[in-house]
Amino acid sequence: MISRNFNIALAALVGQQIVFSQPSYRNANANPSSLVQPLYTPLVLGSIKPLGWFNDQLQLEADGLSGNMFDFYRFVNDSRWIGGHTEYSALDEASPYWFNAIVPLAFGLGDERLIGQVRYYLDYVLDHQQEDGWLGFEKTRATRGVWARCLLFLGLMQYADADPTQTDRIVTAMHRYVNLAHSMLSNNYTGLLVHGNDTFDTAGFGVGRTHEYHIPLQWLLENHPRNNSKTLLEMMDFMIDGGVQWGADWRTFWTKESYPKVLDDNYNMSWVFIHGVNMAQGLRYPLSLYRNTHDEALKQTSRTALDLLAKYHTSTAGSIIADEYISDLNPSRGSELCIAAEIMFSTAYMYQFLGDNDIADWTEQTAFNAFPAAVSADWWSHQYVQQENQPWSRNLSTAAAWYDVNSYANVFGLEPNYPCCTVNHPQAYPKFLANSFVKTADGGVAHVFLVPGSAATTLGEDNSNSVFITANTTYPFGNTIAYSITASSPFDFSVRIPNWADANSTINSTTRIQPDSRGMHKFHIPAGKSSTSVQLSTSPRVVPRANNTAAIYYGALLYALAIEHDSVSTPPISYRSQEVLPSNTTDPLSRTRDYKLTPRSSSKWNIAIDASQISVVGPAHASKGPLTSPIWDLGAPPVELRVKAVEIEWPVENDTPANPGTFAVVKVGEPFEARFVPYGSAKLHMAVLPVVEL
Ligand SMILES: *[C@@H]1O[C@H](CO)[C@@H](O)[C@H](O)[C@H]1NC(C)=O
Ligand SMILES: *[C@@H]1O[C@H](CO)[C@@H](O)[C@H](O)[C@H]1NC(C)=O
Ligand SMILES: *[C@@H]1O[C@H](CO)[C@@H](O)[C@H](O)[C@H]1NC(C)=O
Ligand SMILES: *[C@@H]1O[C@H](CO)[C@@H](O)[C@H](O)[C@H]1NC(C)=O
Ligand SMILES: *[C@@H]1O[C@H](CO)[C@@H](O)[C@H](O)[C@H]1NC(C)=O
Ligand SMILES: *[C@@H]1O[C@H](CO)[C@@H](O)[C@H](O)[C@H]1NC(C)=O
Ligand SMILES: *[C@@H]1O[C@H](CO)[C@@H](O)[C@H](O)[C@H]1NC(C)=O
Ligand SMILES: *[C@@H]1O[C@H](CO)[C@@H](O)[C@H](O)[C@H]1NC(C)=O
Ligand SMILES: *[C@@H]1O[C@H](CO)[C@@H](O)[C@H](O)[C@H]1NC(C)=O
Ligand SMILES: *[C@@H]1O[C@H](CO)[C@@H](O)[C@H](O)[C@H]1NC(C)=O
Ligand SMILES: *[C@@H]1O[C@H](CO)[C@@H](O)[C@H](O)[C@H]1NC(C)=O
Repeated sequence: MISRNFNIALAALVGQQIVFSQPSYRNANANPSSLVQPLYTPLVLGSIKPLGWFNDQLQLEADGLSGNMFDFYRFVNDSRWIGGHTEYSALDEASPYWFNAIVPLAFGLGDERLIGQVRYYLDYVLDHQQEDGWLGFEKTRATRGVWARCLLFLGLMQYADADPTQTDRIVTAMHRYVNLAHSMLSNNYTGLLVHGNDTFDTAGFGVGRTHEYHIPLQWLLENHPRNNSKTLLEMMDFMIDGGVQWGADWRTFWTKESYPKVLDDNYNMSWVFIHGVNMAQGLRYPLSLYRNTHDEALKQTSRTALDLLAKYHTSTAGSIIADEYISDLNPSRGSELCIAAEIMFSTAYMYQFLGDNDIADWTEQTAFNAFPAAVSADWWSHQYVQQENQPWSRNLSTAAAWYDVNSYANVFGLEPNYPCCTVNHPQAYPKFLANSFVKTADGGVAHVFLVPGSAATTLGEDNSNSVFITANTTYPFGNTIAYSITASSPFDFSVRIPNWADANSTINSTTRIQPDSRGMHKFHIPAGKSSTSVQLSTSPRVVPRANNTAAIYYGALLYALAIEHDSVSTPPISYRSQEVLPSNTTDPLSRTRDYKLTPRSSSKWNIAIDASQISVVGPAHASKGPLTSPIWDLGAPPVELRVKAVEIEWPVENDTPANPGTFAVVKVGEPFEARFVPYGSAKLHMAVLPVVEL
C-alpha cells in the first residue's frame, strides 16, 4: 500500500528534471520510405461497417451520450476550441479527445448527423488556425502546450482518411502546425517542457505521452510528406528527447528490472509511468520508435511491456488495475474506464505490428468485458472506476479503498469523477470496429476481431480486385461466423482463431481448423460469390488469481456472479463541486442521470465457488437469430453458466468487499447453483472469487 504522502512525492517528482547528456535517439536522417510496415494494415476508415449486435452497440453509442454531448456538454459544446469558454484543465484536451472518438464513430456508422458534428468542429478549428500556424485558441507561450494537438492530429488523420474531399486542407493545416511546433520544440522544447511561468502542463501529462505524435506524424510522412519529411522526423525526435530530458523515457520503465511488480515506497521513477491511462498509452511508445529506427530491441521491449502488465497489473476483464495509479491484483481496487479504451487502441495497434495472437485476444477481452461493464446498457452513463468485485455502485461512505479517486467514482453517471473519461471513452468501440478487418502483408484480408461486420476493399498492385466480405455472427455470444464474400479475382482470406478455441473447431462444420503459428486460418477465395463458415469450439476455463481465487471464462467472455439490483437515479452532479450540474450542461431531454445500483436482498454477492462444477445453459444454437438489444444488460446475452457455490462470511472494508486472502473463508448454509452471466452485462458483479471444494 502506498502511503498518502506519495502524492507529495509525486508532486515533487513532477518538477524534477533529469538531464541526460546525450539525446538518446536520432532518426532525422532516416529514409521516410523505410518505416517498419505492419503485418496487418487497417482498411480506409469507413470501409468497415458494423452488423448485428455490434451495429446495435454503435447505434446506441450514437444515440446515447457520445453522440449527443456535442449539443450540451460544456467541455465539448462550450469548448474554447470552438469559441466557447469551458475547459476542465489547462491541457485544453476535452474536445480534441471527443473529436478523436466521434470521427471514427461518425464514419464507421456513416451517420450524417455525427458527420455534421465533426465537420462543424473541423471547419471551426481549421478556419481559426492562427497566422503562425497554431491550431487552437491559445495565444501565449505560457498556455500553448502541444499535447492536446496530438489528440487533434489523431482525429484529423482519421478524418482525412475517411473523407477525401477534406484531405488536402487537413494535410495543409497539419504541416503548417508541424512547422511551428518544430520551431517551438527546437527552442528548449517549448510547448512540451514547462519553463518559468508556463501553465499548459504543470503536472506532466503531455510529457509522459510524447510518442502520441508518432502515429499521425508517421501517417503524414508516409502519405502526405509534402517535401517536409525532415521536419516531421525531427519533430518526432524533439518530442522523444524532451520527454527523455524530463525523465519520461518509457524504454527505461518497460524492463524486467525497473517495472514495479509491487508498487511500494521504493518506487523511484517518475509518477507518469504508474498512472494507468499513461501506461495504457505508454504501451505504444517502444513500437512507435521501432517504426522509425528498425531497432529490434524496441520491438522486444513492446512484447516485454505487455507481458509485465499482463502478469502484474491486468484485471480479469482485460484492463489495468489502477485508480489512477497501479495497485496490486486486489479485485476491489478498480480500474478507470479510459484505461480500457486506451488498452483496446494500444493492443489493436501493437497486434498489427507484432502479430502475436494473444494480443488480439487481449483487445477482445477488454472490448467484451472491461469496457461494456462500465458503460450503462443504453450508453447514457458510465463509471469512472469499475471493480472486478463490485456488489454495489453508489456513493461510498469513504474513498479510502482508492488512492486518487473520489467516493462517487463507481456511480454510473455523466462525470462521476474526472471528466476526461466522459470525453475519451467514446473512442473504444469505433476504433475496435475500424481495426476488425485488416489487409495482410501477403496481399490478402483478415478478420481479426470477430465481431459482425462487413468490409469493402481493393486488393492487388493496381487495386483492381474489389472485395466485399460479410461476417454474420453473434460472436462472442455465439461461436459460429458465416462469411459471404464477393471478389473480382481470387485472394487469400484469413480468420483469426482465438487462442482459447480448441482442436474441435471446424470449417463448414466438417473440416478441422488449422491455424498457423499466429493463429490465422487461411482460405483461398475464388473469384465471384462464395461463402464459408467457422465454428469455434471451446469449454469454460477457470483462471486462478491471487490468494486461492479464480475467475471463469467461456470463449471470449468473462463470467461473473449476476447480482440483481435496484436502481435509483438523480440529476447528474459536478465532478468537482459534487453539486447538481446546471441544466445548461446536461441533456435537455433529461437523459443524462446518475444511477446508483444496490443489490436486492435476495441476491447474494458473498460467495465462494467450486470451479470444478460448472455447466453451460442457454440455447443450444446461441449463434442463431438476432440478439436482444441492448445486449450488455443483465439477462440479455443468450448464454449463462451455473457454478456450484456457497455463501461465505465476507467482510466489508472501506465500504467495499475486502480483498480475498485477507480473511478466512467461512461457509454459511448449503451449496447452491449460482447464476453466472457475461461480466459486461452485469453492472453489479463478483468475478474474482475464493475457491472451495463443495
Ligand atoms: C451548443 O448547444 C446548443 C444547444 O443545444 C446548440 O444550439 C449549439 O449549436 C451548440 N453549439 C455547438 C458548437 O454545437
Ligand atoms: C531549458 O529549460 C530548462 C527548464 O526550464 C532550464 O532549466 C534551462 O535553463 C533551459 N535551457 C536553455 C538553454 O534555455
Ligand atoms: C512570471 O510571473 C510573474 C508574476 O506574474 C512575473 O513577475 C514574471 O515576470 C513572470 N516571469 C516570466 C519569465 O514570464
Ligand atoms: C523541397 O525543399 C527543398 C528545400 O527544403 C527545395 O530545395 C526543393 O526544391 C523542394 N522540392 C519540392 C518538390 O518542392
Ligand atoms: C532506483 O532504485 C534502484 C534500486 O532499487 C537503483 O538501482 C536506481 O539507481 C534508483 N534510481 C534512481 C533514479 O534513483
Ligand atoms: C458522497 O459521499 C461523500 C462522503 O463519502 C460526501 O462527502 C459527498 O458529499 C457525497 N456526494 C454526494 C453527491 O452525495
Ligand atoms: C473434442 O470433442 C470431443 C467430443 O465432444 C471431446 O471428447 C474432446 O475432448 C474434444 N477435444 C478438445 C481438444 O476439446
Ligand atoms: C464451405 O462451404 C461453402 C458452401 O457450401 C463452400 O462453397 C466452400 O468451398 C466450403 N469451404 C471450405 C473451406 O470447405
Ligand atoms: C451555465 O449556467 C451557469 C449559471 O447557472 C453559468 O455560470 C455558465 O456559464 C453556463 N454555462 C454555459 C456553458 O453556458
Ligand atoms: C445471418 O444469419 C442468420 C442466422 O443464420 C440469418 O437469420 C440472417 O438472415 C443472416 N443475416 C445476414 C445479413 O446474412
Ligand atoms: C493476498 O493476501 C495477502 C494477505 O493474506 C495480502 O496481503 C495480499 O495483498 C493478497 N494478494 C493480492 C494480490 O491481493
